[in-house]
Amino acid sequence: MEEKNYDCVSKFCSIYQREPDAIAFCPYRISPLGAHIDHQGGIVNGMAIDKGIHMAYGRKNNGVVEVQSLNFSSRVQFFVREVQDEKVGDWADYLRGAAKMLSEDYPLKYGVCGVIEGSLPIGGLSSSAAVTICFLQALCNVNNIKLEASEYIKYAKKTENVYVGVNCGILDQSCEVLCEKDSLLYLDCETNEYEQIKQSSNMPDYEIGIFFSGLERNLTNSKYNLRVDECKVSAYNLMAYAGIEYDKLSNTRLRQVPEEVYVQYRDRLPDVFCKRTDHFYSEMKRAKEGAIAWKEGNLTKYGKLMFESGQSSIGLYECGCPELISLYWIMRDTPGIYGGRFSGAGFKGCCMALVDPKYKDEIEYKVRTEYLEKYPSLKDKYSSCFCHSADGVMAMQKIGD
Ligand code: GLA
Repeated sequence: MEEKNYDCVSKFCSIYQREPDAIAFCPYRISPLGAHIDHQGGIVNGMAIDKGIHMAYGRKNNGVVEVQSLNFSSRVQFFVREVQDEKVGDWADYLRGAAKMLSEDYPLKYGVCGVIEGSLPIGGLSSSAAVTICFLQALCNVNNIKLEASEYIKYAKKTENVYVGVNCGILDQSCEVLCEKDSLLYLDCETNEYEQIKQSSNMPDYEIGIFFSGLERNLTNSKYNLRVDECKVSAYNLMAYAGIEYDKLSNTRLRQVPEEVYVQYRDRLPDVFCKRTDHFYSEMKRAKEGAIAWKEGNLTKYGKLMFESGQSSIGLYECGCPELISLYWIMRDTPGIYGGRFSGAGFKGCCMALVDPKYKDEIEYKVRTEYLEKYPSLKDKYSSCFCHSADGVMAMQKIGD
């Protein structure tokens, strides 16, 4: 990892009067296409970015986990072998959950003391998966455990699903673990098969623009789980109409329903379920077409698909909030932006875009001015930045080996 004076390191030194044993890092992710279909076994596109969460840490021989965040005020303390069953409802649930899920398969002897630092505002870039994976790396390292990529993904997802209570899919964790710089991760969330699609040599330059609405989000209090349930119920009904054998509702996904079945029985579904299901099939198509455009280096086509995906999230999946929807429409009307949409779940948080670097200043100015004209009270909270694609945790570990 590049040597830098991270604030988490100086804070660690001032608390513990010594240097940390190591620094763990996990990047944030963006998902330009394939929104809200990972939990239905869909196909997604993703990239890790060159910003994320750092943790300066050391081993605690007495098994205590003691972590402080530079972004939140409370300091967490728990015993690594006695994590409480119930979540508390704060940021440290991701650490508690990670320790609990990991300890189901690996005996944990040592604890960790550390300081965690996120480089960007929270919401839309999957800081929750990043904090979990960052902490897992530290906990594994002090306990001499070497995890495979699939295990990082499994424990981080289980932390959210089982401990925190968000029924997310594998998109965030997979991007943060598997992505490679200058490649697009093309992941089938039903089979877990994936491909790294290298940037074609004729692809024009691009950067990733992130526009934070100024509203931070927590998926636990959003309609995220409700939407997942709506998709499952739609799949359940369609399978029943078509006489397809089905399992428990919790194991049911739209991917199990052939599109022809949907076309045949669509009329019987309530409108609201049709909307969610239309989003699923159209987003699957966009994720596949996007992969082809990416291979061809056709950013104009790719960007157009992203804008369409954003519109589908607003109109059919009905996520987003007025502020994010305004950002989306401003981006659509901004020269130099190839395409953009809500980043991640999109209930609050940020929008992301692929941009032509030549227009960065104009883009920054126009989006900021138009957004704040509409929401002047968010002046001190709105922010934007540009970043690049980056390696996920596994690719970084290969470099470190
Ligand atoms: C959140 C979830 C992911 C995914 C996205 C939307 O980031 O954690 O699993 O569903 O929203 O694509």
